[in-house]
Amino acid sequence: MLIKRRKGWELPESAAAPEPVFLNRRQLIKAMGAGTLSLATASLAPTVEAATSDGAEDPSAHLYPVERNPRYTVERAITEERLATTYNNFYEFGSHKKISEEAQALEIRPWEITIDGLVEEPFTIGIDELLAKMPLEERVYRHRCVEAWSITVPYSGFPMTALLDLARPLGDAKYLEMRTFHDPDIAPGQRQFWYPWPYVEGLTIEEAANELAFLATGYYGKPIPKQNGSPLRLAVPWKYGFKHVKSIMRFTFTEERPETFWSVVDGGEYGFWANINPEVPHRRWSQAEERVLGEDRKVATKLYNGYAEFVAHLYADLPESEALFK
Ligand code: MTE
Repeated sequence: MLIKRRKGWELPESAAAPEPVFLNRRQLIKAMGAGTLSLATASLAPTVEAATSDGAEDPSAHLYPVERNPRYTVERAITEERLATTYNNFYEFGSHKKISEEAQALEIRPWEITIDGLVEEPFTIGIDELLAKMPLEERVYRHRCVEAWSITVPYSGFPMTALLDLARPLGDAKYLEMRTFHDPDIAPGQRQFWYPWPYVEGLTIEEAANELAFLATGYYGKPIPKQNGSPLRLAVPWKYGFKHVKSIMRFTFTEERPETFWSVVDGGEYGFWANINPEVPHRRWSQAEERVLGEDRKVATKLYNGYAEFVAHLYADLPESEALFK
């Protein structure tokens, strides 16, 4: 009997999640005014909307929704938007999961992004100008936190390769360092001096150039909410969630491996590679299974979160002990 082995990320017809209903804020208000939207539907709107700190609508709202790229499908249902936008890790706003209200203090305009280090010409660009230059698409990715919970979410944004084309790194650039804002006046977590703020993460250039590496600017067909890393956050679905640095302000190309936030906090705990591996337990958690947010069940965790076809070759020459958890 011929058994078709499905790749980890392929979507079996039977498991296809319903398309999420994309209603941006303007559409929602219009629909309510026209009396075409019932209260039951209105309650599907996220609890915290993407808005600037003065309450105005995010100026990028008109860009979304964008077309979904069918290449990156998954075999799980999409997590309810309300959960993915209210159960968050964003230590700048607190070391618990309920930071979505606090994160609204983040000022997302103006938002300047600096690209520097080993590039032909360093430059700074505003987020809206950057968005106008980038090829926007939607990708449904699985996201697995090192704390053993997982979600499946539709990001909108652009492939990291598009940013690399714009940045024009030099031949001796080996790593890409990504850095969050630093403003203790609005982010109370950043007053905790024992953390090495600002939050920094890094990838090798080969990882950054991998087709899966994505910069998310939208979520569920709208601008990405502040608590999820507005206006620009990393998505590298084969790596644990802490690599997915939020609210990026600076991309620096370097020859040396960057010192990342968690590896400075505790080098023995969180390493640079952070590739998802069910066989290497964390000191505090087994990584064999994950709790699917919003569902009353645990599922087996897959090597590289099920994305091995795309990324396993990146680590072929590394000793296993180095690549698979550190
Ligand atoms: N980025 C910043 N700047 N600060 C953080 O505390 N937490 C990380 C990552 N990016 C974090 C961050 C962790 S541990 C996870 S699991 C994801 O963000 C959570 O992303 P989500 O809240 O959008 O699900």
